[in-house]
Amino acid sequence: KNSAHEKWKAAHTFAASYYHHLLLNTVEGEQALAYLHERGIDEETIKKFQIGWSLPGWDNLTSLLKQRDYNLSDMEACGLVVRQEQNERYFDRFRGRIMFPIMDEKGQVIAFSGRILNSDADEAKYLNSPESELFQKNDVLYNLHNARMSIRLKKQVILAEGFLDVIAFTRSGIDHVVGTMGTALTQNHITRLKRLSTNFVFCFDGDKAGFEATKKAFAATEAKQVQRTAIVLPDQKDPDDFVRTNGKDALTKIVEENGLSEMAFTMLYFRKGLNFQNDTDVLRYTENVLEALAKFSSPIEQSYYTKQLADEVGIDQSVIE
Ligand code: UTP
Ligand code: MN
Ligand code: MN
Ligand code: MN
Ligand code: MN
Repeated sequence: KNSAHEKWKAAHTFAASYYHHLLLNTVEGEQALAYLHERGIDEETIKKFQIGWSLPGWDNLTSLLKQRDYNLSDMEACGLVVRQEQNERYFDRFRGRIMFPIMDEKGQVIAFSGRILNSDADEAKYLNSPESELFQKNDVLYNLHNARMSIRLKKQVILAEGFLDVIAFTRSGIDHVVGTMGTALTQNHITRLKRLSTNFVFCFDGDKAGFEATKKAFAATEAKQVQRTAIVLPDQKDPDDFVRTNGKDALTKIVEENGLSEMAFTMLYFRKGLNFQNDTDVLRYTENVLEALAKFSSPIEQSYYTKQLADEVGIDQSVIE
């Protein structure tokens, strides 16, 4: 089994350098390279994350793997190739996509995610390797390998959703960041991160999905002996959008200054979409906040946020208490 895994990893390492070469050094990679440049990603970043390009043809990688004596049904098991049911032919899983290699904690490539160039297309924006013995999404965090040392030194870890969000942070000089790749934060993730730091900063997308992800991340880390804060980015932006409109310094600043406690985030969460001119909304909000306060706040926090609540809704603090 172990030697099978070694083969899988070797094949992934080979595929990553092949895709990377196609992006940087070939005419076929030019369009994808231009797209990345347009998104502010320079050659240095492409190299650091070993970003690549998969050709749109059916079996470019498959034939190379075959030439190198990789067993194709084995390559199917680790997700690099897929088999056509009817004629039992193998072809490339990733075709015509910008390739993000996903590394394990030791830096070995264990999976890929491929982004389509044109997000209006019908297909999923990101296509991922399937789960295998090598790659379990609930156990892997993007960029953990690169970020380990910085997380230790900074005594903090920033969690973002997307590949390009992690990359936006590192391009802003913030290296202690990992990506959940759009999935929920799991107990495995938490255990891995806690070995490096117990100070978590959630910086998910500023849209509805990101809000929900933040709420769930607070819940998942409840009573786990970790300190947590959340950054809520304005205008539904994700960290990558934010850097591109507001600049690197603005991202550094918002991360350093605007961390919300669980309670402050929860209040913002409940406030979303409500209208305080409307009595029903005011009452609903007040009840939600009071329930949350009872659930996870210290007495000091309770009195602090009760005051804030009183100011927000215009009810006397003594009544609320
Ligand atoms: P988002 O939908 O926020 O995409 O998904 P993004 O990262 O901002 O993508 P860009 O900026 O348009 O390139 C967040 C993350 O969820 C995972 C990916 O890891 C993505 O980075 N995801 C998203 C998938 O795995 N599949 C998808 O189809 C979409
Ligand atoms: Mn260039
Ligand atoms: Mn998102
Ligand atoms: Mn996003
Ligand atoms: Mn984005």
